[in-house]
Amino acid sequence: MIHLGVNIDHVATVRQARRTIEPDPVAAAALAELGGADGITVHLREDRRHIQDRDLRLLRETVQGVLNLELAVESGVVDIALATKPQQACIVPERRQEVTTEGGLRVSADDRALRGTVDRLRAAGILVSLFIEPDPATVAAAQAVGAEAVELHTGAWAEAWLACRGRDDDAALRRQVERLEAAAHAAGEHGLRLHAGHGITYRNVGDLLHLPLLRELNIGHSIISRAVLVGMERAVRDMKDLI
Ligand code: PXP
Repeated sequence: MIHLGVNIDHVATVRQARRTIEPDPVAAAALAELGGADGITVHLREDRRHIQDRDLRLLRETVQGVLNLELAVESGVVDIALATKPQQACIVPERRQEVTTEGGLRVSADDRALRGTVDRLRAAGILVSLFIEPDPATVAAAQAVGAEAVELHTGAWAEAWLACRGRDDDAALRRQVERLEAAAHAAGEHGLRLHAGHGITYRNVGDLLHLPLLRELNIGHSIISRAVLVGMERAVRDMKDLI
């Protein structure tokens, strides 16, 4: 079975738009788990634009499945991760100006900062994955720095998919699928767990499931988008009843 990690950052994005108390990502996590999520994923960014320290603390206490914390190497968040001890951490690149995590982590086998962070997290009993571009050489480097899993960045594939609406005779999409397949095989050869995420939607997810040894998908934007729409009618009716 492929594990579904639901990324709830965007629930916190809506809350932070008003800097108020709702919607609470902790409540959203509990509901996601009731819906069948195998895990909850959050990114505690250095600029705290969405998830806050308080959210992570409460999620650690309340999430029943796997809590997966995304974090950047050079941030103070590594110390927070060591203190909070989520079951899993995904190391991602982070730039303040970006709208979302753009591109995978640059990994080289002799990156001492990255290796040091991986070692510290693993020593705390946290399973460490690296969010990388689907590229066999990067997979090999991820293993060399001690990661136990790689999360393949599916953003370029998702863009190619959207451009041709998933037509399997489209050369650009075919190229992206081949990149993912090559990276997936490399992960298998290096004994790494295979995760994937970014830009996965209800429409395109079916075209990813053939990847060999795929164990986990992390999906955020599309699920939160659907939650807003499927919840709209009920939310308005509840307010109408009060008025
Ligand atoms: N995985 C990682 C490492 C991410 O940074 C993100 C985006 O925050 C996701 C998965 C989820 O991407 P999306 O919101 O496009 O589903």
